[in-house]
Amino acid sequence: MKKMMLNKLLLNQGFGTRRVCEQLIRKGRVRVAGEVVTEFGDLLEPDLLELEVDGQHWVCREFIYVVLNKPANYECSRKPSHHPGVLSLLPRIFSERNTQPVGRLDHDTTGLLLLSDDGTFIHRQASPKHHVPKVYEATTHEPVTPELIALLLSGVKLVDEAEPLVAMSCRPLDTHRLEIVLEQGKYHQVKRMLAAAGNHCDALVRTAIGKLRLEELDLPQGKWCFLNEEQLALLAP
Ligand code: URA
Repeated sequence: MKKMMLNKLLLNQGFGTRRVCEQLIRKGRVRVAGEVVTEFGDLLEPDLLELEVDGQHWVCREFIYVVLNKPANYECSRKPSHHPGVLSLLPRIFSERNTQPVGRLDHDTTGLLLLSDDGTFIHRQASPKHHVPKVYEATTHEPVTPELIALLLSGVKLVDEAEPLVAMSCRPLDTHRLEIVLEQGKYHQVKRMLAAAGNHCDALVRTAIGKLRLEELDLPQGKWCFLNEEQLALLAP
C-alpha cells in the first residue's frame, strides 16, 4: 500500500465516510501504534500498521482474506432472505469494505468458506478454469455403495447441464458418509449429483479448499480468522 495520511487511511480501511473518519481523529477516538492521535499528520506507512478505533484493534491491510467455519442456517447471498447472512458473523468493517463470500455454500451446508474484498482473488478462486479442488463430506440418506461411488466418478447427468458432472475423486467414509472432491461449484452440485445417482444428501460439510484443510485451522463453527501467506499459498490450484 502507498503511504497516506491518517484520515485517508481510516477511509481506505473502511472506518466510514471521509467526514466520519475526520471526526474520529479530531475527537481522539483513534490510536496509532498505541498513541492517541488527533491530527491527520504526516504520511504513514500503512502495511500492518496497528490502529485502535473506539477501542477496536485493527491491523491495516490492503485486502482482507478470511476463512469462516460456516454454521448451518446462514446464507451466503448478499441480500439474505430466510436466514441471517454470513457477513453478520464478521466485524462490520468487513461489509464496509465490500467483503464477499468466495462462491456460495447452501444455508444448511457447514464448513470452510473464504471471504475477501480482493476481486481478482475472488474471481480466481471461484473460476472453474483454475481447478481449485473443493472437498466435501456428505452424509447420505441411503447407504454408500460401491455403485454410488463408481457413478459419481464416471459422471452423472443433471437435467439442466449439457455434460455429465464428474467427481475428481470420491471415497466412502462409513456406511452413510462419503468424501467427494469437485472442481466446479455449480448450484447445489453435491446434493444434485447424489440425487441423480439415486441417493439423498442429509448433511454436507466443506472440509477443504485446495490444500487448506478445516481440521488444521482449529476453528470452531461460527468463528473466522485471517489467512496468512502460508495458508493463502495452500489455495493455489
Ligand atoms: N454442493 C451443494 O449441494 N451444496 C453446497 O453448499 C456446496 C456444494
